[in-house]
Amino acid sequence: MVTVRAPATSANLGSGFDVFGAALGGPADIIRARPADRTTISVTGLGSEYIPEDPAENTAGVVAEALEAPAHIEIDKGVRPASGLGSSAASAAGAAVALNELYDRGRSRKELVSVAAEGERAVSGAAHADNVAPALLGGFTAATEAGVVGVPAEIPLVVCLPEVVVSTRDARSVLPERVERSQLVETVGRAATLVAGMCRDDPNLVGRGMADSVVAAARSELVPGYDQAREAALAAGATGATMSGSGPAIVAACREGQRRRVAAATVEAFEENGVAAQAYQTSVGAGAGLY
Ligand code: HSE
Repeated sequence: MVTVRAPATSANLGSGFDVFGAALGGPADIIRARPADRTTISVTGLGSEYIPEDPAENTAGVVAEALEAPAHIEIDKGVRPASGLGSSAASAAGAAVALNELYDRGRSRKELVSVAAEGERAVSGAAHADNVAPALLGGFTAATEAGVVGVPAEIPLVVCLPEVVVSTRDARSVLPERVERSQLVETVGRAATLVAGMCRDDPNLVGRGMADSVVAAARSELVPGYDQAREAALAAGATGATMSGSGPAIVAACREGQRRRVAAATVEAFEENGVAAQAYQTSVGAGAGLY
């Protein structure tokens, strides 16, 4: 039996749509795997009633198939599905690490990124690696078709998750097909600023680079209270705040000592809009690892 802790992740980070991602210190899924003649999956924990146990429809099952590593896989969800916190990616990454270990497959973490991305394709229709890359490598990552680059980073974060469900499919359907040239230039500048901030462990630069006038702006209509919670995070001292992945969670970058205030402010703003919410005071964290 192998047990792995696989972290939540925050994709996009504002300016890095479909490319940037960061592993979070928490929450996380716990994945246990033991060898079997054929793959079976059982899911418990947050939102488990919405997650298919059929291996063909579960990211962990698709990973087992890709690695030719049949196993009984138990997934204890700490990352709620449809949260914008890489729930399906956590299960895919955790299964990839567990089965690679269990069957001694010898794949590197970077090789496991493409395996886990196939799991993502099974549930979302596209093999996005912007969540599985940080879930496997930890820290901050940029995932493109050319490969994945990443750096470890120490940035305090607050993630506030409202009790709203947003499917990635719906969140992608509201995106504009085209952007203005001025928006392109602005976004490139912000993305470069964010990368510099991650490399220097500088929450001011990371926060500045999180600004985004294209993707999160289009999606905000799907999350009641999003604009108010974002404003509240900034007023409480966050250096930047944006939608986490395809939402509904918000991720805010903070300086040391500010997380408690930012967490309270974002929860209160959602509640004032009639939406219950919970906040995680966390930071950029490690990738999936044996537990
Ligand atoms: N980059 C993706 C999106 C993350 O924002 O749609 C969700 O899987």
